[in-house]
Amino acid sequence: MKAIVIGSGGREHAMAWTLLQSPKVTAVVCVPGNGGTATLPGCSNLAMSVDDVEGIARFCLVQNIGLVAIGPEQPLADGVADGLKAQGITVFGPGQDGAQLESSKAWAKALMQEAGVPTAASAVFNNGEEATAYVEAQGAPIVIKADGLAAGKGVTVAMTLAEAKDAIANIFSGQFGTAGSQVVIEEFLAGQEASVLAVTDGLTIRPLLPAQDHKQIGDGDTGPNTGGMGAYAPTPVVPPALMERIQIEILEPTVQALRNRGIDYRGVVYAGLMITPEGDPKVIEFNCRFGDPETQVVLPLLNTPLEQIMLACCEQRLEDLPPFEWKSGYAACVVMAAEGYPDKYPKGMVIDGIEAAYDTGAMVFHAGTQLEKGVLQSNGGRVLGVTALGDGFETAIANAYSAIAAIQFDNAYYRRDIGHRVRDQF
Ligand code: AMP
Ligand code: GLY
Repeated sequence: MKAIVIGSGGREHAMAWTLLQSPKVTAVVCVPGNGGTATLPGCSNLAMSVDDVEGIARFCLVQNIGLVAIGPEQPLADGVADGLKAQGITVFGPGQDGAQLESSKAWAKALMQEAGVPTAASAVFNNGEEATAYVEAQGAPIVIKADGLAAGKGVTVAMTLAEAKDAIANIFSGQFGTAGSQVVIEEFLAGQEASVLAVTDGLTIRPLLPAQDHKQIGDGDTGPNTGGMGAYAPTPVVPPALMERIQIEILEPTVQALRNRGIDYRGVVYAGLMITPEGDPKVIEFNCRFGDPETQVVLPLLNTPLEQIMLACCEQRLEDLPPFEWKSGYAACVVMAAEGYPDKYPKGMVIDGIEAAYDTGAMVFHAGTQLEKGVLQSNGGRVLGVTALGDGFETAIANAYSAIAAIQFDNAYYRRDIGHRVRDQF
């Protein structure tokens, strides 16, 4: 079978790599892909826009593509899955209706309330005056969120009332376009964050191994939020008994609530969770796709062929699939970024040492890279995700850092403390 992966980040490189581990997958085409997917054996890039439904559909029909997996949220929110499905193509990823789980925080909150899913108390406003009056009544700390997709920049965890009011003013200033026409104001939750990526065929939902990400740019979780600077799995923060509660209290009611709304959801439900100091899981947000860089640690541990799982979701027979099989041990991923990210950063730096990193036994998933006349160059803020496995948690982390030591490019920046939260807690 030939498959398409839509997207160009580290997550998509990891999806393509994992699909190609299966003997049944003969080729993967990434749309548009990056420097890593261009050089991955069995994989090639197709220079097309991720929302070019007609172009992708034509390619699928001519090339006899058996599966299209959509990586990022934007094409899902734009209805790319609907467009391809309408042409009879097998697509892993929800339609525009289901993608509202991520593309509208207000919609997702209403669904959670309807489903009885534990989440932060919240209120939704469509003007600045009422929102400001509400935060004045509630006090700080409090969390202010633009309703729509804002590339991870729409959320402010306000420790003071002044910060909260600034955030509200920013959102209604039009900075986020239509994403900022509504604001969700949420109770501040303390605790440990965890990412549970689950796959569903719209009837059954099954979690993958739990992961933890490091959203902030600086060591010790300081500085602005990013797409994610490092991850590991399985995180000890979500032991099996807690995963069972997450399944029963969060994942199953969410799928049921989607069905109640008539939504046929086949793809990933990613629950961003806060594990409260009391040990209860609460949803901070839902995403309608795999996480990045969580995917770069979860998929390398998966032994069940990924295309089997994706096809079972697409064909609504997930219930019949045997339990997923996993490697023992842990995976850790450290992201190498360009200095300056998530603000301004340089591009076009020549990257050396990838082969040497592979020689340490690690995997290097490219994010912002491109091949320019055969030379690998940086082309984005997050440049590479270096993933290593290990029998123990600390070994996996140490292996990832050993591999990073082999890679060089100008202005490379990475966090030195990936895994610190596990160390701090256990
Ligand atoms: P989101 O885009 O909704 O995941 O929010 C981005 C980040 O803001 C999360 O990863 C959390 O670190 C933080 N955050 C969001 N909502 C809350 C909340 N209710 N309480 C505390 N922190 C939050
Ligand atoms: N790593 C966070 C995300 O994918 O949204």
